[in-house]
Amino acid sequence: MSDSYDSEAVALSDGMLRREAGRLLIEDVPVDVLVERYSAPLFVISESALRRRARRIRAAFERVWRHGEVHVLPAVKANPVVAVQRVLAQEGLGADLVGAGELEVAVRAGIDPALISLNGTAKDYATIERAVALGARVTVDDVREIELAVMAARATGRQADLRVRLRPHFETDARMQAFGVPINDIYGTYKSGLPHDDLAAAGQALSAPELRVSGAMMHMGRYTTDLSVIGGYAGRFGELIAEVSQLWDGWTPRTIDVGGGFAPQVDGFGRADPDFVPPDPTPIERYAEVVCENLAEGLARGGVDPRGRVLEVEPGRALFGPCGIHVATLLNVKRQTRPFPFTWYETDTSQLFLSEIPDEAARPPVIPVHLPGAGGLAEVRVVGRSCMSDVLARTAALPVMRPGDLLAFCFTGAYNDANASNLNLLPRPATVLVNGDQAHLVRRAENIGDLLARDTLPDHLRHPIAGAAR
Ligand SMILES: Cc1ncc(COP(=O)(O)O)c(C=O)c1O
Repeated sequence: MSDSYDSEAVALSDGMLRREAGRLLIEDVPVDVLVERYSAPLFVISESALRRRARRIRAAFERVWRHGEVHVLPAVKANPVVAVQRVLAQEGLGADLVGAGELEVAVRAGIDPALISLNGTAKDYATIERAVALGARVTVDDVREIELAVMAARATGRQADLRVRLRPHFETDARMQAFGVPINDIYGTYKSGLPHDDLAAAGQALSAPELRVSGAMMHMGRYTTDLSVIGGYAGRFGELIAEVSQLWDGWTPRTIDVGGGFAPQVDGFGRADPDFVPPDPTPIERYAEVVCENLAEGLARGGVDPRGRVLEVEPGRALFGPCGIHVATLLNVKRQTRPFPFTWYETDTSQLFLSEIPDEAARPPVIPVHLPGAGGLAEVRVVGRSCMSDVLARTAALPVMRPGDLLAFCFTGAYNDANASNLNLLPRPATVLVNGDQAHLVRRAENIGDLLARDTLPDHLRHPIAGAAR
């Protein structure tokens, strides 16, 4: 039996999933075996798929950026599991990261410090100093951070390697596809980067001998798949670099980073409108062409030669998303005939863990882990176990299933676990890394003890209450 939900998800998962006699395997490991061993809900990442995807993204940009090297700095926030980042470090990739925690992940993963960018707004001194001591680059988001970088350079005795985060403006009528907000408003008010008004002051501060300013970066955000908008921003970024060059006495960046924001191949965009049919996903090769061509043209228009400059990219969803699945157990099947016929499958997971569903209106395809030998499809709603409405799939065509059966949510390797929360004190699931026929627990599940570990009772509340539960 081959059903649309199944063949679509499998075809698009780059061969990472397959079926043997109706049983779902990730690489060579049956998914039900993983659940037996590690229990559900469970995040599973395919190591081979991650490596293939990383190589494909790098190759896509190398093919079209002929002016210099290409560095891929995956966004650590999308999947900060140390083992997952170690796989990418082995592939020679770097890291775009925010904050002391993600910096620690990069260190433990063994990522080359020269390929690390400490990004983010409102950085604290301690994290800047740690980055400078490691030889990682600091992406300056505000003039104040330049002073902190000088202090860090003096404290560590190392020159601080900085990049500047710019805010290109491209005039467009386009709207964010998921939520309909005008993109110009989003970019114009998005907090990150040096305001245009501060560029002259930043240039002065950056001339301190303790500093080296090696790069410029921007991040477009995943607001649209409209390539004319994406190309427009890349072109404006090139022009803005040229403007900054004029303002800063001919300075030019050795590295130019276009950030992330490339839609993943499946569920290319979250859609708040349940009736919206997403367009065909844009392959990363097409993004690469549009970004590179427009960036090079923008630089050239402003009089900056792109030759010899390193292009950097920071994929998040497009890299991690397709390489992971999330497995859940069906606990209850409920059917009603009144007030209208409706069937819903209640699972042991939640949108607290599949956070891309509420946050980004993502619609990960859900497929059964075992295909039944016979029987038709039922139109069902799949829900999670938190006290919220917790809709995981508004209407899914799934076989008639029984409690205890397993479901896999595909293309869930990015942000879901990283953004997971603990409403109802639900412990967050484990992550398993699969490689061929091997599976390794790379992040254990939380337990109730973890969730209560931060609580303390002050002395005057310590006496047990008579008759209370122990
Ligand atoms: C600076 C920066 N780079 C890269 C990314 C990754 O974006 P995406 O996952 O949409 O590719 C983000 C995401 O917010 C970001 O802020």
